[in-house]
Amino acid sequence: MSVIESIMQTAAQFLPDKKKDPLIDQAGFVGKPVTRVDAEVKVTGEARFTAEFRVPDLVYGALVYSAIAKGKSTKIDTSRAKAVTGVLEVITHHNMPRMKAPPLANFEDLGKGVALSDLPIMQDDAIYWDGQPVAVVVAETLEQAEYAASLVQIDYAAESPQVLFEAMKAGAVTPHDVMGEPPEIKIGDVKKGLEQASVSVDNIYRAPRYNHNAIEPHATIAFWNPDGGLAVFDSTQSVNLTAHTLAYIFSLKNEDVQVVAPFVGGGFGGKAGLWNHTALCAAAAKVVNRPVKLALSREGVFRVIGGRTISEQRVALGAGKDGRLDALLHTGITATTRSGRYAEQCTFPARHLYGPPNVFIGQKVVYLDTVANTWMRAPGESIGTFALESAIDELAFELRMDPIEVRRINEPVKDPTKDTLFSSRQLVEAYRMGAEKFGWARRNPEPRSQREGKWLIGQGVATAYYPYMRFPAKARVCIHADGTAIVQTPACEMGMGTATVQIQHAADRMGLSLQQVTFQYGDSQLPDTPMLAGGSNQTATIVAAVQAAVEQIYREMLRLAGKRADSPLHGAKYEQVQARDGGIYRIGDLNHGETYSDILRAAGRASVEAEASSGPPLETMKYSMASYGAQFCEVRVHAETGEIRLSRWLGSFDCGTIVNPKTAVSQLQGGIIMGIGMALTEETLFDERRGRIMNPSLAEYHVPVNLDVPPIEIVYTDIPDEHAPLGARGLGEIGITGAAAAIANAIFNATGKRIRELPISLDKLL
Ligand code: MOS
Repeated sequence: MSVIESIMQTAAQFLPDKKKDPLIDQAGFVGKPVTRVDAEVKVTGEARFTAEFRVPDLVYGALVYSAIAKGKSTKIDTSRAKAVTGVLEVITHHNMPRMKAPPLANFEDLGKGVALSDLPIMQDDAIYWDGQPVAVVVAETLEQAEYAASLVQIDYAAESPQVLFEAMKAGAVTPHDVMGEPPEIKIGDVKKGLEQASVSVDNIYRAPRYNHNAIEPHATIAFWNPDGGLAVFDSTQSVNLTAHTLAYIFSLKNEDVQVVAPFVGGGFGGKAGLWNHTALCAAAAKVVNRPVKLALSREGVFRVIGGRTISEQRVALGAGKDGRLDALLHTGITATTRSGRYAEQCTFPARHLYGPPNVFIGQKVVYLDTVANTWMRAPGESIGTFALESAIDELAFELRMDPIEVRRINEPVKDPTKDTLFSSRQLVEAYRMGAEKFGWARRNPEPRSQREGKWLIGQGVATAYYPYMRFPAKARVCIHADGTAIVQTPACEMGMGTATVQIQHAADRMGLSLQQVTFQYGDSQLPDTPMLAGGSNQTATIVAAVQAAVEQIYREMLRLAGKRADSPLHGAKYEQVQARDGGIYRIGDLNHGETYSDILRAAGRASVEAEASSGPPLETMKYSMASYGAQFCEVRVHAETGEIRLSRWLGSFDCGTIVNPKTAVSQLQGGIIMGIGMALTEETLFDERRGRIMNPSLAEYHVPVNLDVPPIEIVYTDIPDEHAPLGARGLGEIGITGAAAAIANAIFNATGKRIRELPISLDKLL
């Protein structure tokens, strides 16, 4: 028996019995395009984001950033800064409170905290990257703090930094792991497979650094309570993991730190872990003994928060004349830091999409002296699908076959590297639906064959892929005698619609109206459980925990009702009842039941409450689980200037049950727009001699604007995945995957030019 088989067999013992969740088939609120519960407070400006909280006695922090990438500060002259009116303190490593170095993210035990670098924060004179905070100025007003920060004089002893990716590539090393997976996978003999293939392609694909640019720049407000506890408003994707991280850094108990974030203006991975400014804000509040606000400027986000690594990938494919893949090689080199050690998982799609007999997958990293790289929407899968799905298109062209047909005939029956069955994989159906809606059959496969005046027109397609994730978590649910319910988790709402879909789920689960359910989130003092609005996991994670808590409430309600001989539920077992119309009823006998109000009043109880945990994601051990999609687009390239305009987009996705079409479509469109930025407009410009980011502003780092984005149509299979809570897999990140490849493939179809380096700017087409 293979290791994986024995794990599967062990896992099977712990899997819940195959009984399907009845909500998967119920036509309730789940599946309806419910308007966001926070829509009104957002459009009226009532919603409070971190930097908007009014805290009495608040003072303002401003950071001073290192101007060298490696070395030491030998002297920090704060005298002029201190003399500025309103300045309370200038804090450097000399007078910074002692803090432990933050804990690196560890997915085996998220509860310890999550940071993307384990470097100590302003504890000594060492400098590790250009942009590292070296002083914090605290003043009565933001203007005073920023002005004073500009007057801090730093002398450096600079060393020459390792910042040149090109020069370091030859010495790239194999990382210990890639997000917990082996860095290398070998099946068969890829070299032989490539040599013997009738048709092959073998090319290098490059992508630049990208930086995070959420609408809301990172911000923190921190203050210390008289009892020594720490209270923090923070723009974070995880209130309780940020609380744990701060507790660790300041040697406090988890319960002595409260982190609150009712609304977050986008995160995309950039707010998933703790970065320097949050710890520095808390430390500054301690030093001046006042609440401090430290809101990063847009430049500050570029200097202090990591982004997506620069990358170079090689994809080689070999196939028979019939289009069947014999060999697949996908290797990648990405950059990271010695303090972060994060190898972006660019080879993950290649591990699960195609199953030729000969495979080599391998990742390497180079260590650079920069800010730690981090997760950015579909880290790995975004750039990984650019390389892999461009290569599939190139192979299809060599074969003179339709690229969708190449994918269809290479669709595996089981996961090629994990060697398990798929929980549900409807990629072929997503292609069929998408092709029909997009009119793929009308496309001319011959490059440069479609033209309107000076505009060359082309269409491209690529596969989208993002794994399913679920974390073990806790939820607390309370049903009151008035028939209302409260659901509590420390979830984060950064615009995805979490509160809305969780109310839809809880209402269906308990047979209540949407108005009867309150969803409380965004506060680390809600049931403390590792919860992260990242990895497209939050919906499944919360649903599983709420399901467990509601089951406990039901059992308690049945116990209470069972005490009365005249109750229609007397003697009823949990398996025999269902939620409906504000109460519990016997399945198949809907006249026999009671409302929660009746049960609770008869029992003399004001409420029933339960806190429950969902177990680990055994479903992902037993099955290969992911969301899939097919990205179709049409480009127009100006024959003389190389200008690229997108004229049409259709994304066809298979993400299981769509819990809310309105928020889901918005998420998928947002991902695609971010993919358009990755493909065409975004690029962090980096001084390869000094290691300094040169375009730290939205004026020079170009995210797509409305005119860059065509109408985006979204279709989806809506086929439930019976192994995922509610049948729903994630969809927050998949939209960006496949997008850059679809564009590159469309540009090839339009112009005959194959561009393998992002962003595809017009100069590359001339
Ligand atoms: Mo996402 S990059 O896991 O926030």
